[in-house]
Amino acid sequence: MASIVFLILAIVLSSRTSGTTSRGGLFEASATDKHEQWMSRFNRVYYDSSEKTSRFKIFKKNLEFVESFNMNANITYKLDVNQFSDLTDEEFRARYMGLVVPEGMNETSTSGSDKSFRHENVSETGEDLDWRREGAVTSVKDQGQCGCCWAFSAVAAVEGITKIAKGELLSLSEQQLLDCSRDFNNGCAGGIMSKAFEYIIVNQGITTEDNYPYQETQQTCSSTTQTSDSAAATISGYETVPNDDEEALLKAVSQQPVSVAIDASGLAFKQYSGGIYNGDCGTHLNHAVTIVGYGMSEKGTKYWLLKNSWGQTWGENGYMRIKRDVDTPQGMCGLARLAFYPLA
Ligand SMILES: *[C@@H]1O[C@H](CO)[C@@H](O)[C@H](O)[C@H]1NC(C)=O
Ligand SMILES: *[C@@H]1O[C@H](CO)[C@@H](O)[C@H](O)[C@H]1NC(C)=O
Ligand SMILES: *[C@@H]1O[C@H](CO)[C@@H](O)[C@H](O)[C@H]1NC(C)=O
Repeated sequence: MASIVFLILAIVLSSRTSGTTSRGGLFEASATDKHEQWMSRFNRVYYDSSEKTSRFKIFKKNLEFVESFNMNANITYKLDVNQFSDLTDEEFRARYMGLVVPEGMNETSTSGSDKSFRHENVSETGEDLDWRREGAVTSVKDQGQCGCCWAFSAVAAVEGITKIAKGELLSLSEQQLLDCSRDFNNGCAGGIMSKAFEYIIVNQGITTEDNYPYQETQQTCSSTTQTSDSAAATISGYETVPNDDEEALLKAVSQQPVSVAIDASGLAFKQYSGGIYNGDCGTHLNHAVTIVGYGMSEKGTKYWLLKNSWGQTWGENGYMRIKRDVDTPQGMCGLARLAFYPLA
């Protein structure tokens, strides 16, 4: 009974707020309303009304993009406004990505005939695999406003191999990498996963998230983590997956979660909310994620399962399914161009 009364009330109220205005005015009003709702949902507070006005303009542009995108019947994925929807593309790129590829690495790492790697002879990859089901994936983390995707991507891969090799799933410390992995890596200003693995090898381990929690900013490397006493997990090395080769990538992911570089720029990637992503993006690598599985949809579309570090309000509870086995060797959004995995 109460719910019926509520329903009627809701219908009356919604018809009152949307009934009268002209079409253009209606959109204005609803974009304003949606901005207000969005602000409270994501706890956004602005300094003053002029900031609010300028942020609203950006929000409206993102909202329009999302709404017109979702009206296209011919799409395999959906978008939604999220915590990034009042940011310009430039702001988003600077704060939430953070992959920097060392010069020459994209060409030299695995070029030419040297395609040898540990998982090269894997023959059974199966139809689908989800490392979450195997208990090898910690819950989705949030890098916040710090371009250290490289640390989150590396940690997720180390968490995976540690569970697979040692049987224990531990949440490990991105902050330790942020503070202490400083050869090439540059904290919130960007870095690369391979250098993070090199740090863990030299340091003889990495400690837990609890022991060295995430601060969203680079700090001084804590000396207590520099001893192997505090190491919760260790790796003996790492390897690069032969580049531009989704088949090689599949072999690697069938054995463990794999750190990959990707092109995450673009309004669609930023506001992806579900389905199998198949563009828009280029292959300019600017972000890092971890592939934690693969499979095929009911409609027969093959996908990779990506774990991101943008919290659980982005994508499918923090994950993205993205098209696998595309026509270009680089993979969708360049995800097969540069991939690494740590060794137990
Ligand atoms: C839908 O997508 C397919 C494949 O990309 C394309 O060939 C087709 O023209 C599209 N249809 C519409 C209505 O946009
Ligand atoms: C490799 O990276 C350099 C510098 O970022 C870029 O100019 C070049 O086009 C890249 N090479 C390939 C094969 O993508
Ligand atoms: C894969 O098989 C080939 C041929 O038997 C062998 O030469 C190579 O060493 C194997 N690779 C690994 C990593 O075991």
